[in-house]
Amino acid sequence: MTDALQVEQSAWCSTQDAQAVHRLHRSAVAKAWSGQVRPETVEHFAAHQGSAGSIVANYNASGQLVAYGVLALVMPIVSRFAALLGADPARVCVLDGCAVDQDWRGHRLHEAAIVERLRLATALGRPAAVATVAPQNLPSLRSLLRAGFEVRRFALLYGGLPRFVLYRPAEPRLAAPPCELRLSMHDVGRHQQALAAGWVGHACCQSPDGDWCLDYASSDKRQETAGATARSDAS
Ligand SMILES: CC(C)(COP(=O)(O)OP(=O)(O)OC[C@H]1O[C@@H](n2cnc3c(N)ncnc32)[C@H](O)[C@@H]1OP(=O)(O)O)[C@@H](O)C(=O)NCCC(=O)NCCS
Repeated sequence: MTDALQVEQSAWCSTQDAQAVHRLHRSAVAKAWSGQVRPETVEHFAAHQGSAGSIVANYNASGQLVAYGVLALVMPIVSRFAALLGADPARVCVLDGCAVDQDWRGHRLHEAAIVERLRLATALGRPAAVATVAPQNLPSLRSLLRAGFEVRRFALLYGGLPRFVLYRPAEPRLAAPPCELRLSMHDVGRHQQALAAGWVGHACCQSPDGDWCLDYASSDKRQETAGATARSDAS
């Protein structure tokens, strides 16, 4: 069996090896563009243990860590984001960082790490989730949107880094609502304005010239769509 097959077929497990996670994190930071990944200390990873949180990990056949995903459950960051989004802090978790080894990218390990953390948090009574991502981090943003997250806010976080704040309700939509506003990913200022005005980002798409965009619907429209989904489910 090749290393690649081993990674794709193996289950995720929880790790307490904050040092190994920190090493992979540092190597991701070293190869990232400025502002993509917030640099963390080993203590940050060590804090996500026990009832506070968890770190899910995936290893290759040689036992080398190739991907991790950090989950915050009972930590100040959870209450802060719950307050920002008007969510119940006792029912929310935060996906608090993820990285995939450069040699293992493109295997949807990020998406799998998202799903695994949502599964863990839901089992612990926290079915809603928050995540943050740099607006230009298309691979990460697209994985989160595919997993049912919505872009809800724009904020300067982690010492002034521009971030989309995404929320995944306990019962996410089955499909994105129709696009009412399409903004190029290059125009960060317009995303900031749209989110401040209550638009909700649902899906990324690529224009014929290769430009990536985020599609928005208004909040009211989103509620109408949720109502329509609930009605059709009930019938
Ligand atoms: C963001 C990240 C976690 C995505 O991990 P991943 O498991 O490779 O994600 P995917 O497999 O879904 O790939 C995402 C896209 O990146 C592309 N990609 C990027 N680098 C690649 C590489 N070296 N090899 C293959 N594909 C790559 C994939 O083709 C895919 O594009 P597609 O959706 O059009 O198919 C990873 O790039 C990473 O660790 N980045 C640095 C840390 C980071 O940004 N963390 C997120 C903070 S919010």
